[in-house]
Amino acid sequence: LDRYCVFGNPIHHSKSPIIHAMFASQTGQALKYAARLAPLDGFTASVQQFIAEGGKGANVTVPFKLEAYALAHQLSERAAIAGAVNTLTFSDGMIVGDNTDGVGLVRDITKNAKTAIVGRRLLLLGAGGAARGALLPLLAQQPASLTIANRTISKAEDLVQLAHATKTYRGDIKAKTWQALNGSFDVIINATSASLQSEVPPIPNTVFCDTSLAYDMMYSDGQTSFNRYAEQAGARTRDGLGMLLEQAAEAFFIWRGVRPQTAPLFAHFRTKGG
Ligand code: ATR
Repeated sequence: LDRYCVFGNPIHHSKSPIIHAMFASQTGQALKYAARLAPLDGFTASVQQFIAEGGKGANVTVPFKLEAYALAHQLSERAAIAGAVNTLTFSDGMIVGDNTDGVGLVRDITKNAKTAIVGRRLLLLGAGGAARGALLPLLAQQPASLTIANRTISKAEDLVQLAHATKTYRGDIKAKTWQALNGSFDVIINATSASLQSEVPPIPNTVFCDTSLAYDMMYSDGQTSFNRYAEQAGARTRDGLGMLLEQAAEAFFIWRGVRPQTAPLFAHFRTKGG
């Protein structure tokens, strides 16, 4: 049986083993996928060990995505621009790094939530790893404009520079402070980690209107604080469950060449939680 795993620390909460087991049974692929706790100072050794055991590929989660980027011998363009790797493939002694988070986000918004990004006004909140990972796939959708807002404005400005450097997009990109945000947006994506502390970035509620989609990359069993705020301002909301499933589906596709369906899993996790 081909073997895969997810590396993280902590890792006990990870839904990846159950997600990939469901994908495998749905597509009839014979594989094993487990969670592996890597020591904080032992990510590389853990990966080498797994390769020595015959592992074919691995997902990488917090806090190892930057180390996985550094470890890869080869990178996809989207991983190179993200500066982070969440999917590793091992073949013939090579470690190939990819990043499926951004494409997972875009697929969930455009396909599952049936919300176009092309030609729309896009607001990205946050400028850390999650925002950076989403940047190239979002720009590839050719929004009318992209505004990046962050608590630390210099980091938003860095992302704007990076966006210009990719040359995939010639539209309007700007960095703003929370206070400088004005007018409404069609799609508002929360890529800050504020929801982890049940906090909401201090943005004016006028960024939302009744045709907006507010998307919190975080996923929890209850409604996130960001989505509660957006809903009160009249927006439709969606959390990161769909993104979690789509990034996993893309990794599964990279490894197995078969694209699993995410809709049955979405229904499963939404009704059963956990
Ligand atoms: P991740 O990989 O989740 O993106 P990160 O790279 O540490 O993690 O980035 C966290 C992001 O959330 C940053 O944009 C951070 O803002 P700063 O760049 O100013 O640090 C943002 N963030 C974290 N806590 C926040 C809070 N309570 N309110 C607003 N923004 C917050």
